[in-house]
Amino acid sequence: DWTMAAFRQEAAAKIREQVGSGRVICGLSGGVDSAVAAVLIHEAIGDQLTCVFVDHGLLRKGEAEQVVTLFRDHYNIPLVHVDASEVFLRELSGVSDPEQKRKTIGRLFIDVFDSEAAKVGGADFLAQGTLYPDVIESVSFHGGPSVTIKSHHNVGGLPDRMKMKLVEPLRELFKDEVRALGRELGLPDGFVGRHPFPGPGLAIRIPGEITRDKLDTLREADAIYLEEIRRAGLYDVIWQAFAVLLPVKTVGVMGDARTYDNVLALRAVTSTDGMTADFFHFDMNFLGRAATRIINEVRGINRVVYDVTSKPPGTIEWE
Ligand code: XMP
Repeated sequence: DWTMAAFRQEAAAKIREQVGSGRVICGLSGGVDSAVAAVLIHEAIGDQLTCVFVDHGLLRKGEAEQVVTLFRDHYNIPLVHVDASEVFLRELSGVSDPEQKRKTIGRLFIDVFDSEAAKVGGADFLAQGTLYPDVIESVSFHGGPSVTIKSHHNVGGLPDRMKMKLVEPLRELFKDEVRALGRELGLPDGFVGRHPFPGPGLAIRIPGEITRDKLDTLREADAIYLEEIRRAGLYDVIWQAFAVLLPVKTVGVMGDARTYDNVLALRAVTSTDGMTADFFHFDMNFLGRAATRIINEVRGINRVVYDVTSKPPGTIEWE
């Protein structure tokens, strides 16, 4: 793709110009955006870049391993892997307000990067995979009055005490363009085609308080749902699919025993940029199959519902 080849050259030149001989630290989230940003920056400035993957304990099943393998083995880009799940879960305990969750996570991310930057002898720049829709959605909604719908954890600049400047080479791109750039940079198809995943991770897919147990339950259910979606050949036609663990218990029956367990909501949408979205029209047999598997295989869930809300009026994520 000649346009992406040109963008790649220009963006690399801009990064070199901005950074000079400075040191850059790049936060990887596990998603496509930060991975593409990191590979692009590495191409531009080589070992002036240090990548830091903060595992906040809010990732999907197998996600941390996939990212580490991609960077260390496929690209041979040095990667610091920080397991910060203890801190994140401790600071999030008792927090149930969605904006409070997002702000807590954003603050902790900065703290961890700050201390990792100090460890590598200080960094002058912090690189992020911020996209154009992240920028506008955090500022205003569809050109309307300036109301914050959600504080994206990675938008809004850095606290004053932080001396690092931001490097955001994807700030003008939409998701499909980032994917094209990722392919141009040689990222594996399976990685580039992954559904978007929000920085605050599973924390915003568990309304109410977050606990390790709830996270484990959601991770298992989510993995089964996505496995069924792949098996049905639907992964690539869906923009994003995920499960949400509801803080609601209902009565059920399993064998000849009464159960009293949580409800799981399934969500799947089609979209081109995440700004608007339509709920996905599954075949009912598919939904029945996924629900049966989840209820049989995941302890703690005895009822599954499907979300038929489009965006607007809903947002894609529940929080
Ligand atoms: P909403 O829920 O606002 O989401 O309709 C639109 C798209 O953005 C993703 N999303 C985020 N991505 N940091 C991110 O990197 C965030 O804080 C964040 N919040 C939502 C969401 O998954 C969807 O693709």
